[in-house]
Amino acid sequence: MKVAEVRADMPFLENVVYMDAASTTPTPKPVVDAMFEYYHSYNTNIGRGAYRAAIKATSEVSKTRSRLAKFINCDHDEIIFTNNTTQAINLVSHGFNFKKGDSIIVPNIEHHSNLVPWLNLKKLGVNIKMIKADKNQMVNPADIEDAIDESTKLITLTHVSNSIGSVLPVHEIGKIAKENDIYYMVDAAQSAGHMSMDIKRIQADFMAFPGHKGFLGPVGTGLLYCDMEIMEDLEPIHLGGGTVTDVTETDFKLAKPPERFEGGTLNISGIIGLGSAIEYLNRIGMENIEKHSKKYTQMMYKGIQDVENSIVYGRPEAIYDIVGFNISGVHCHDVAKILDEQARICVRSGMHCAIPAIRQIGAYDFGGTVRASIHYYNTKEEIKILIDTLEEISRFLGD
Ligand code: ALA
Repeated sequence: MKVAEVRADMPFLENVVYMDAASTTPTPKPVVDAMFEYYHSYNTNIGRGAYRAAIKATSEVSKTRSRLAKFINCDHDEIIFTNNTTQAINLVSHGFNFKKGDSIIVPNIEHHSNLVPWLNLKKLGVNIKMIKADKNQMVNPADIEDAIDESTKLITLTHVSNSIGSVLPVHEIGKIAKENDIYYMVDAAQSAGHMSMDIKRIQADFMAFPGHKGFLGPVGTGLLYCDMEIMEDLEPIHLGGGTVTDVTETDFKLAKPPERFEGGTLNISGIIGLGSAIEYLNRIGMENIEKHSKKYTQMMYKGIQDVENSIVYGRPEAIYDIVGFNISGVHCHDVAKILDEQARICVRSGMHCAIPAIRQIGAYDFGGTVRASIHYYNTKEEIKILIDTLEEISRFLGD
């Protein structure tokens, strides 16, 4: 599918220059249609009813699971549905039996979702070993290796930094984790759907994904990949309907994974929409998405770098789909507000739920950064509008 066809499926893009994909992406019409069809024609619960409409809903949800499994190269039952990435990470932090004396290795550039759940385990006596990234938010695998000792239970890190888009060496670090027999978790919030992904090559035991960002799916969808070999070691944290096969007045028997982790009614329409979104990405073609992303990220980085008074973060060759920057002398929220008011450009500004990461790049005193984040639907013309508007802001307000 060509960019113009995709844009035609996203009417929201007619009115704005949307550059906030790292927060969420517009939902294409076929995805909305799939959800509409569920509500219109077979709005039932799953895994319960024996009637045909309920069986259809159950089968559609299962189809999404299969499509996701194929997309990341894992088994159908290794996909656990959650409502977002944060829930997926919390399922591991609460459910994976961390004990006093265990340690967890995590870089200091993580989104709070892949940081606060681990810091919270300090209450149990778990040690958090924070790895310092460099000023471009690159993590050196050797630093991770040096931090490993016999207490290390988990290494966890993001694939692509949500604040400035740096791509971390997840394959190399996966190899280190396996060689040292340590569990490995990757936060794929900013990479899933933006690039093709093979869980077997990354060698992750856990991977957390959103449905509503790179995948172009609806909000309220996410998932945790968990390696089947360790599923039994992960405790469900939401017990109730759907998570058990037998219950007496004194005990219960857990259902097999992944059902045991999916207590309560799932976001059925959202999951059906996510299944349609995966098909949509396949129609665009991941290789086309990657080609587009690489080219347009560079174009955006270089264009912003040439704006007088700009400060652009990260190394251009090591970032993907996200550019973090500031205009010297102007607060990041003012830049974002003017971009919207002057040219209807939507970008996020501030700390990006990653305060230590913002400190690490030296942007804390600016109030954070401005973040322009793109996907396949963005065009060269939109990047030009962004650069031209930034030049105006710099001319009038920068120093
Ligand atoms: N986690 C999302 C972001 O980085 C919302 O903007």
